[in-house]
Amino acid sequence: FQTIDDLQLSGKRTLVRVDFNVPIRDGKITDNSRIVRVLPTIRDLKAQGAKIILMAHFGRPKGKAVPEMSLAPVAQGLSDALGGEEIAFAKDCIGADVLAQVDAMKNGDILMLENLRFHAGEEANDATFAQELAKIGDVYINDAFSAAHRAHASTEGLAKLLPAAAGRLMQTELEHLTQALGQPKRPVAALVGGAKVSTKLELLSNLVSKVDVLVIGGGMANTFLNAQGIEIGRSLCEHEMAETAREILKEAEAQNCKVMLPSDVVVAETLAANVPTSTVEASEVPENQMILDAGEKTAGEIIVELKKCKTLVWNGPLGCFETEPFDAATNSVAQAAAGLTVSGELLTVAGGGDTVAALIHAGVNDDFSYISTAGGAFLEWLEGKALPGVKALEKAAQ
Ligand code: 3PG
Repeated sequence: FQTIDDLQLSGKRTLVRVDFNVPIRDGKITDNSRIVRVLPTIRDLKAQGAKIILMAHFGRPKGKAVPEMSLAPVAQGLSDALGGEEIAFAKDCIGADVLAQVDAMKNGDILMLENLRFHAGEEANDATFAQELAKIGDVYINDAFSAAHRAHASTEGLAKLLPAAAGRLMQTELEHLTQALGQPKRPVAALVGGAKVSTKLELLSNLVSKVDVLVIGGGMANTFLNAQGIEIGRSLCEHEMAETAREILKEAEAQNCKVMLPSDVVVAETLAANVPTSTVEASEVPENQMILDAGEKTAGEIIVELKKCKTLVWNGPLGCFETEPFDAATNSVAQAAAGLTVSGELLTVAGGGDTVAALIHAGVNDDFSYISTAGGAFLEWLEGKALPGVKALEKAAQ
């Protein structure tokens, strides 16, 4: 696909799809990383003298104008991130008023449009809605890798209507993900955690054919342990996934992928901060207790394995890291991986909302080689799926 470098943008009305779907609490942005990560694109466009028109979605308003899902606070957040620079805001994303605002823009100006999802045509990838958007731009830049798994008007449809290119963040995300799983330095390990096997089934199936070591953690490790006939007390478990779990293990064996499950676990009667806990062999979970983290021995075993690897892809925590002390295994493995990254022995790529929160909690997010801004899109990419937003850019370039 094309990038910003391939287009002449001076004086051009440049429609840029960004993902500013950031967490907001009490009207305040609690994590502005998705905004900060788009700044290189905005700066490049400004330097070229483009008229920068930013489009984004926020939340899931389902085709209606929901005031609580306005992007106005986000436009303010962008202004703050740019050191107080003025960002104009349009009360809609299409229509005569927006067009008039765009016509009044000077080179280098920035205009943020209201939430695309206030119109049902966005998610429906409606051709008429996409044409309305296309009217306000001369060129289209997609910098929203984290929304690229959606085939919406602003992520897919527009690429068919205007000259299209990838923004800097889109480029960077794809470069790093390719390094991590496309053509990785081997051995490559994947660490997959999270509560449910059912939501990460396709991911696990794809990974066993791609990686040399697959570490399974979190609640879904319980389902795997149980599928092997191990009693796991009152632990979270998807019993109906037992057969599937066994099939994944079989496939991993056939593909020469080493699967690591917890050998010891931290258990307690309930999930709450500072309850009495004990560490037991995974095969000796008391009937009235539940697994809430991997044990120290397991963390050590994972670290030994990581030392033999050149690449690590991380998605999902190893335990209930939001509640201490069940953050211990995630912390120690994350810190070891960060150490190996800093010393240049391991390339570490992580993604997914929970994962990034876990790495921040472990204090190592700055030490990983790359942290994706994507949640769902990161997962679908790891599942080996083609992302409609990326595909559209590739097609547009042909
Ligand atoms: C995300 O936050 O992962 C993206 O912005 C996509 O949001 P969506 O799941 O509402 O499409």
